Amino acid sequence: MDDLRQKYLTAIGDAADETVLEDLRVAAVGKKGEVSLKMRELGKMTPEERQVAGPKLNALKDEINAALAAKKEALADTALDERLKSEWLDVTLPGQPRRQGTIHPVSQVTEEVTAILADMGFSVAEGPQIEDDWFNFDALNIPDHHPARGEMDTFYMHRDEGDNRLPHVLRTHTSPVQIRAMQKHGAPIRVIAPGRVYRADYDQTHTPMFHQVEGLAIDRDISMANLKWVLEEFFSVFFGTSVKTRFRASHFPFTEPSAEVDIQCSWEGGTVKVGEGEGWLEVLGSGMVHPNVIRAGGIDPDDWQGFAFGMGIDRMAMLKYGIPDLRAFFDSDLRWLRHYGFSALSVPTLHGGL
Ligand code: PHE
Repeated sequence: MDDLRQKYLTAIGDAADETVLEDLRVAAVGKKGEVSLKMRELGKMTPEERQVAGPKLNALKDEINAALAAKKEALADTALDERLKSEWLDVTLPGQPRRQGTIHPVSQVTEEVTAILADMGFSVAEGPQIEDDWFNFDALNIPDHHPARGEMDTFYMHRDEGDNRLPHVLRTHTSPVQIRAMQKHGAPIRVIAPGRVYRADYDQTHTPMFHQVEGLAIDRDISMANLKWVLEEFFSVFFGTSVKTRFRASHFPFTEPSAEVDIQCSWEGGTVKVGEGEGWLEVLGSGMVHPNVIRAGGIDPDDWQGFAFGMGIDRMAMLKYGIPDLRAFFDSDLRWLRHYGFSALSVPTLHGGL
């Protein structure tokens, strides 16, 4: 019995894996194992012999079973340790980027423009894209039959028979939001209104839907000088370099005086660079809000005055990010979106840098 004990306990201790251990279990305490066979011999013994050998054999069997169980657990622990070592993962490593989509340049630039102007105290206003023609035209000092209506290539909305509401249009500019914002908030007011606008026009620099951002500041003593500072400051932050502006006298029904604003640029090798050179590029319309417009907004033009401007967002995106063809903006070509798109995790902020 001592030999058996020695033999199995040593073998169990040396067992390298669970298969070896299982073989040992069968050989020792399995049905036909050595210890089991010994137990069967108890029947042939005298009662006295049995009284001595019985408990000893039982104890041996228990001891071997316990050794088997302990070894099994030890083997499992070692296996787990090995796995933990080989499958170890450094959770502090930076994640592997999985690009699932990109932010469209129009969205990116809208955020940039909003961040810059919000920092100057402008809040964001909105209006409908399907607009009353009163807001789109009349309230902006463009009465019926005014030539400006014809120049806008307006999309008129179909009216059902028997519907006697005023006709609607797809707004041709963001300027109607000036009226809505003034009616809603009164004066003083400082808002921008980014959004989609529509005109029936299509070539390399025109699409029937495009984006503008409107700016409106009304207070008691706002002047063109404030407008000029806001725009120069805006362009310099937006393009990340100081940008000169040139104001050219112009005409809009809703501003008086009116100015078209050019930014300084160079034209070399077919590419435009903003903030350098002798060239000029027209980028927006602006002026002092016409008294009739202020009145349409429910504000008394004898007490209040201010400036407004309207700028093409897509145009800004093309200039800043060197995108040559506007039509591609709205083709949803994945290769274009991946190339010109922005990471969803780098939302533009002024302190983070645009
Ligand atoms: N609404 C004008 C346009 O679409 C731009 C503009 C806005 C001009 C505000 C002056 C003041 O061309």
